[in-house]
Amino acid sequence: MERTFIMLKPDAIQRGWMGEILGRMEVKGYKPVAMKFMRLPKELAERHYGEHKGKPFFPNLIEYITSGPSLVMVWEGDGIIAGMRTMMGKTNPAEAAVGTIRGDLAQQTGRNLIHGSDSPESAKREIELFFNDYELQTWNRSIAPWLIE
Ligand code: RTP
Ligand code: MG
Repeated sequence: MERTFIMLKPDAIQRGWMGEILGRMEVKGYKPVAMKFMRLPKELAERHYGEHKGKPFFPNLIEYITSGPSLVMVWEGDGIIAGMRTMMGKTNPAEAAVGTIRGDLAQQTGRNLIHGSDSPESAKREIELFFNDYELQTWNRSIAPWLIE
């Protein structure tokens, strides 16, 4: 089953949207595998967003993402990498569809609430960056056959 790395960014925590966003993931049937509540050290934030180093928005992005605690997580589900990107909506909340997390709950790219891995390679890299093997829970739910045929 596919896994993805999800982070509720500091604005999601400050605005009290943890429950709302986690609720959307739970009702979809996705399964949590790991969670940590942490303020990202600058070095970790820079490694996580390494692909954007040198871009004009990079300093603001690092300041934003290290400005307070985030909720970093691993979730599992069928096609979850693409599925979560769809649920998140476009990077710029002003362009994100209604019904998506960013489309419903945010206004600006620089305050877009949530990160989700954009490919299997990114998911593997990001999960390994934030979690040790022993922090990833392998567990089964009795409702699994009602979600996955
Ligand atoms: P994320 O990595 O956070 O899930 O977001 P994404 O894939 O939808 O967007 P990406 O292009 O990877 O950008 C990473 C984050 O950088 C901030 N950003 N600001 N002001 C700007 O032009 C700008 N562009 C990107 C956003 O917080 C974006 O989520
Ligand atoms: Mg990205």
